[in-house]
Amino acid sequence: MAYNDLFLRACRREPTERTPIWMMRQAGRYMAEYRAIRQAHGFLEMCKTPELAVEVTLQPVDLVGVDAAILFADILLPLEGMGLDLEFAKGEGPVIHNPVRTLSDVKALRVSDPIEHTGYVMDAIRILRQELKDKVPLIGFAGAPFTLASYMIEGGSTRAYINCKSLMWQEPEAWHALMEVTTDTVVEYLKAQIEAGAQAVQVFDSWVGFLSPSDYAEYVLPHTARLIEEVSGLGVPVINFANNASSMLDLVKSAGGDVIGLDWRIDIAKAAEAVGPEFAIQGNLDPMTLFAPVEVIERKAAELLEAVGTRPGHIFNLGHGIHKETDPDHARALVRAVHEHSSRIRGASAS
Ligand code: CP3
Repeated sequence: MAYNDLFLRACRREPTERTPIWMMRQAGRYMAEYRAIRQAHGFLEMCKTPELAVEVTLQPVDLVGVDAAILFADILLPLEGMGLDLEFAKGEGPVIHNPVRTLSDVKALRVSDPIEHTGYVMDAIRILRQELKDKVPLIGFAGAPFTLASYMIEGGSTRAYINCKSLMWQEPEAWHALMEVTTDTVVEYLKAQIEAGAQAVQVFDSWVGFLSPSDYAEYVLPHTARLIEEVSGLGVPVINFANNASSMLDLVKSAGGDVIGLDWRIDIAKAAEAVGPEFAIQGNLDPMTLFAPVEVIERKAAELLEAVGTRPGHIFNLGHGIHKETDPDHARALVRAVHEHSSRIRGASAS
């Protein structure tokens, strides 16, 4: 099969004969092939063993038929090199044993050296480019400064962001210093991924939707904008995904990027209009749609594609990560539906 660069062309807003699709968290637990490997290895161990990371990155490309691979890794990996003690505890998700709560905690952090501390990620990228050369492009990624800072301050996942927001409002100096060192770390990390061969990079701001627009503008946007600015112009598209932030798309857009990632809480036609023609868009099917019968999945995919029409620069994706209970046959059905239906819409307009 010939190399499929639809994803990269869509990122650049070039015409495509059909719409490319990939799914956030496509390498993961909904696949039996992933669970078989995971059973024998810890999650961090998998991330740090390039051969295993490569294998699970390729699984959804080969078995689900997506148009791009996303590196199997985690947004929290660079935190170790900053001086944080990270663990993925069974059944609990990520835990940071030495959370950041004061200015002196922030001052003790350093910028992680991407090669010294996360060289295994770059090794996996180099192997993947070899393995993928006749298939699809490879996406690298990192967490956005806010989402990473929220884990560093809370020490794990949270619902209320009490410590995080308290630090932000009570100790703005500590807050901004933390955002600075985190931004510097992510800039170096993404530059190293691009140098190793990542063909696009996605910035995940998974939890930024917990902020009000004015707090996003004051405490987060300047840092995210600097991050995106510093990794733009390196020859690879940057995807800016701010989850649950469709009520502040104007601000998200001003942080930059080539592609704006959309969650499912906004109508895609409205989002496309709000974002404007100078950005590509990525999204935005509710991930839970994959629990519906296949006919419903097909109808929802078709409706979404019809709403986008022939606008140049649409990458089909879920509005957030695929759920671990998803039936892989339903993920495959979605990919098939997007390919078939978008060929009808876009193929017709291309000829
Ligand atoms: O998209 C992909 O397939 C690439 C792999 C990927 C993982 N994590 C693998 C993973 C990516 C892109 C991430 C990013 C990530 N990690 C984010 C941002 C993405 C998003 O959903 O918004 C976040 C917030 C994290 C932090 C993280 N990692 C959490 C909160 C958890 C626990 C979640 C849970 O459901 O248990 C992880 C673990 C994790 N990262 C798993 C995978 C496949 C599950 C680990 C396992 O096998 O037990």
